[in-house]
Amino acid sequence: MSLRVAINTGGGDCPGLNAVIRAVVTVGKERYGWEILGVEDALSGLVDLDYRGPNGNRWLELADVRGLLARGGTVLGTSNRSDPFHFVVTDPDGSTREIDVSDRVMENYAKLRLDAMVAIGGDGSMSISAQLMGKGMKVVGVPKTIDNDLGATDQTFGFDTAVGIATEALDRIRDTADSHDRVMLVEVMGRHAGWIALHAGLAGGADAILLPEIPYRVEAVAELIEARRARGKNYSIIVVAEGAKPLGGAVSQLERQLGEMPRLMGAAHRVAAQLEELVDAPMRVTVLGHIQRGGSPSNFDRVLATRYGVMAAELVQARQFGKMVALRNGEIVAVDLKEAIAAPKLVDPRSQIVEQARALGVTFGE
Ligand code: F6P
Repeated sequence: MSLRVAINTGGGDCPGLNAVIRAVVTVGKERYGWEILGVEDALSGLVDLDYRGPNGNRWLELADVRGLLARGGTVLGTSNRSDPFHFVVTDPDGSTREIDVSDRVMENYAKLRLDAMVAIGGDGSMSISAQLMGKGMKVVGVPKTIDNDLGATDQTFGFDTAVGIATEALDRIRDTADSHDRVMLVEVMGRHAGWIALHAGLAGGADAILLPEIPYRVEAVAELIEARRARGKNYSIIVVAEGAKPLGGAVSQLERQLGEMPRLMGAAHRVAAQLEELVDAPMRVTVLGHIQRGGSPSNFDRVLATRYGVMAAELVQARQFGKMVALRNGEIVAVDLKEAIAAPKLVDPRSQIVEQARALGVTFGE
């Protein structure tokens, strides 16, 4: 008997989500004759079967995934506020609180006679998937995030595209920095992990790269700027990960809303303000923000997302649940969901790539 499989996209979007959906639906339908339910806005469509956002829970046909390979975003919609174990509800007086609606999700899963779920998401979604497995849902996970911070895979899709966008921005910034003899600070995403900052910084020839993993001393950055000026290089480019923090200090963030991750904001502006005390040079800050999350996926991400999708479909068909697809040494493999969420993948301050950047004269603000 053919399977009834749900698919959802959870957490922040990233380029390549649609390519995974296309691959899962194509293999699931063409090869195995599944019925496939696209769940709207992460798990919102299972928390409440009457949930009606612009996309809507819908049974997907091949026609629905035509032309999706190159399209950014997710046709299923997504949300980082639909964790069923910490679901935010608003009381009549306007106050909010978190409740556990996971039993309701399981009831709806049974009501729809679903056999399995393909959950495309980051560390948060994988951890929710592992908890739902504990309640009897049959899940296969697919790792996405521009941050590239999932421990069990060599790479998540979305990262390559984000690095490409940030690198292009740095190339553009260099022209104007050079013309005006300015210190330009460019803030990129990366809350716990500095992979985007490190790779875009290297690809874009940054002079300083400030990462969440290496607390910085602003004096070290000021020294680098002065040293460059002494050599006749009157501009400098500083890449700042949004999660960068000064030695002994904390990340720069807004007040946390219930059910949401803390919103990071202001890391590069803070560095600029600190630098202005030490260096007499004009400075400008550019925050790339969500530009890094949109647009068409790179060739690399299209291929990775497609391969992940094919593998996820094969795992479901083989009833290999509780797994996440992962890239290991060029091959797509299945790892245990538990392994996937065990530890995040962070930049090692003593890794080869960081040492090589240091060899080039890049400062990490140590
Ligand atoms: O995890 C991906 C990410 O883009 C982070 O780099 C960033 O901190 C966060 O999501 C932003 O989330 P939101 O879109 O909810 O503001």
